[in-house]
Amino acid sequence: MTRNALYSSIIENLNTAVLLFDRTLRLRYTNPAGEMLFATSARQMRGMTARDLMPDADTFINALQRALATLHPFTERELQLRLADSALLTLDAIVTPLSEQELLLELTRVDQHLRVTREEHLLAQHHAHRAVLRGLAHEINNPLGGLRGAAQLLERELPSEALKEYTRIIIGEADRLQNLLKRMLGPQGLPQRRLTNIHEVLERVRSLVLAEVPGGVRLERDYDISIPEFHADPEQLIQALLNIVRNAGQALGEQGTIRLRTRIQRQSSIGQKRHRLVARIDVIDNGPGIPVHLIESIFYPMVTGRADGTGLGLSIAQALINQHGGLIECASRPGETTFTLLLPIDNGVRHD
Ligand SMILES: Nc1ncnc2c1ncn2[C@@H]1O[C@H](COP(=O)(O)OP(=O)(O)O)[C@@H](O)[C@H]1O
Ligand SMILES: [Mg+2]
Repeated sequence: MTRNALYSSIIENLNTAVLLFDRTLRLRYTNPAGEMLFATSARQMRGMTARDLMPDADTFINALQRALATLHPFTERELQLRLADSALLTLDAIVTPLSEQELLLELTRVDQHLRVTREEHLLAQHHAHRAVLRGLAHEINNPLGGLRGAAQLLERELPSEALKEYTRIIIGEADRLQNLLKRMLGPQGLPQRRLTNIHEVLERVRSLVLAEVPGGVRLERDYDISIPEFHADPEQLIQALLNIVRNAGQALGEQGTIRLRTRIQRQSSIGQKRHRLVARIDVIDNGPGIPVHLIESIFYPMVTGRADGTGLGLSIAQALINQHGGLIECASRPGETTFTLLLPIDNGVRHD
């Protein structure tokens, strides 16, 4: 490899976005990390100005101009930038004027680090709950079986039908408890994976929920149909999404909009694992939002904000998606609640 080829291969493979601007702050070059950050191809980005790329960043752009004029490099930590058509990002920026003609800008996302730690925390928390729950369920299940069996024996010995009423109550309640434990434990079976089209899953969920909600609730679709089919258990995905979309419908009441949005994410991480391809499914509703006192705990079993709720829907959904190597996250404020499902695609695809 020649020295130049080596240098360009290094820059092309950096995770940091590297952008080179000319004297008028027009872009001359960006590496693939820059394309990914701005979600635009290098070809389209070339010739765009710093202002086109970072529309709301007047102060930062003035600082870039100053750096070019004075040839003084600078670093800006936790810069808040809204890139064209994207969410607010937090970035560390390193600015190096190479000459009066050229300025180098390096951008690293910091919110990604924050997100990863939060996700890890969420996953660890979830595993801890399930371990406690499993232990508890086991401890309750065994004596419960004993109680039920004894009641059955007793029933056979009882002289009068009237008395059997009581043993039936014992048996009935034992069954109800056992059922509850089973549901609290969540999915038992491992995913039965087969090639699955995520949009077919969503369409199923959409039609099921449409049949339940009042006419004033709309279910809009915003699908990225380029998402490839991947190996997953469609029944489990339907169950998980149904729990989430149902909740949104219940939160909306008589009217409102639920948006089902799918996107593909490249080079994305879920917890500590990095994936080449991740399918992202957002379920967004414009309802009142999750009550503030619940927001930290909605994925726990038995946490509910509804009088007739069981509080199991989200914990089961999280368990199902975890089994697929994925994760559910949630962000909520009055008027916009988003549940985001991240599902790795590359892991599921087996070339056999
Ligand atoms: N889209 C949403 N908007 C507002 N609150 C929500 C939404 N999704 C979930 N919640 C809250 O989270 C709680 C837990 O949901 P879940 O685990 O499905 O249990 P359940 O639906 O039985 O209450 C709900 O009771 C509700 O208070
Ligand atoms: Mg629910």
